[in-house]
Amino acid sequence: MVRDGVAQKIRVLVVDDFTEARTSVAKLLQFEPDIEVVGGAEDGPTALRLARELRPDIILMDINMPGMDGIRATEAVVSEVPLAQVIMMSVQGETDYLRRAMLAGARDFLVKPFGADELANTIRRVYELDAERRARLGAVAPASAPGSVATRQGRIVVMFSPKGGVGRSVIGVNLAIALRVLSGARVALADCNLQFGDIGIMLNLTGNKTIQDMLHREPDELTPEVLDSILVSHSSGVRVLLAPARPEVAELFTAEHMRAILTALRRDFDYIVIDTWTTFQDLMLTIFDHADRILLLTTLDIPAVKNIRMFLDVCDALGYPPDKVVLALNRADSTGGIDIADIEESLRHRVAARLVSAGPLVTASINSGVPFVLSQPDAQISRNVFALAKQLLSPEDLARAESVERPAVATPRAGFGLRRLFRHRGAE
Ligand SMILES: Nc1ncnc2c1ncn2[C@@H]1O[C@H](COP(=O)(O)OP(=O)(O)OP(=O)(O)O)[C@@H](O)[C@H]1O
Ligand SMILES: [Mg+2]
Repeated sequence: MVRDGVAQKIRVLVVDDFTEARTSVAKLLQFEPDIEVVGGAEDGPTALRLARELRPDIILMDINMPGMDGIRATEAVVSEVPLAQVIMMSVQGETDYLRRAMLAGARDFLVKPFGADELANTIRRVYELDAERRARLGAVAPASAPGSVATRQGRIVVMFSPKGGVGRSVIGVNLAIALRVLSGARVALADCNLQFGDIGIMLNLTGNKTIQDMLHREPDELTPEVLDSILVSHSSGVRVLLAPARPEVAELFTAEHMRAILTALRRDFDYIVIDTWTTFQDLMLTIFDHADRILLLTTLDIPAVKNIRMFLDVCDALGYPPDKVVLALNRADSTGGIDIADIEESLRHRVAARLVSAGPLVTASINSGVPFVLSQPDAQISRNVFALAKQLLSPEDLARAESVERPAVATPRAGFGLRRLFRHRGAE
């Protein structure tokens, strides 16, 4: 492997609670000229510490360990040492576990017992895939620089609609999870509906930290560690930036603050989905400027379409390329006699996605705090959201998503109806 112009070995950390298992992996790799075992850990916390200290390229992680299991350890490694790629090791019959591990951010897996060739080839494949990915993201942090992380250039997808109540939040939540499920990449969901954000409640998440904790900070101060302490983890692996607990806080935000927040998020995540509210304040224009894609959501009624036309004119005036705006029809099966082709013609914009109306399912999903792409991944609305997510993936992530079967996802526990609301408010 050539890195920084010098032939370097792929650095591997082996994590297994059995000493013999760690030794046997090291033995299998001892004659590989391009691979070096740099350390071994017998449990998750040690793995995390050594990952921070040794900065391995690859971590071979046993799935079944006492205490912090391989899945939790993977989650921690992925968020704290993002340059290390995890390959899971498991025994036959742990498929469900394995799928969860992939969702937690593991890049590949090996079923025990494995031979030297299979092991070395898997390590090389994952390393090379990641090298391409880092090159694509335009940043390779030298492995010898402790504490440094790759400078990502994540893709920002902004959920917007000139009219409220069309499904920005619920579709945004499910879209963020679909992006994560399909790509295994680092996905953030930011609730920039600063007054009445409801992402926390839709995901059954509470936390003391919100976007308010990012106020008055320069981008450089918003380090990955600071982001990590503010964003809340959802069981899908999506990291969530919650909206302020009180509506009046919204007034404290300026376009400058928003710029700093978006810059920091883009640096630390591969995909950032942003929920918004309907306004054309400076703040929102800053969000639009930073967006790679504006997901313009509409329903099919004449006033909504008229507003979309006006919004597309604004985008034109701002000099945005037409493909920056992805037009999606929500509740597209209730066309009310309007022909989609006519709409496209009058808007001079392609309808890129259609999402069906799924009343009881969507309502139940919001009320239970379990997004429908997780609870009902095969429902039509979920399929629509996955299809939309595919349009937003980078070509490399799309190729990866097409080549692996969609992992079955651990469904988070449902909330407790209205009591959830009080619990949520209690966190303020
Ligand atoms: N495809 C759909 N099928 C059925 N119901 C839907 C669909 N999309 C959205 N809804 C419903 O529409 C309502 C509004 O959704 P949501 O809160 O996500 O919209 P919003 O654009 O974020 O609204 P707000 O302006 O309040 O932020 C919710 O009750 C949701 O259940
Ligand atoms: Mg909303």
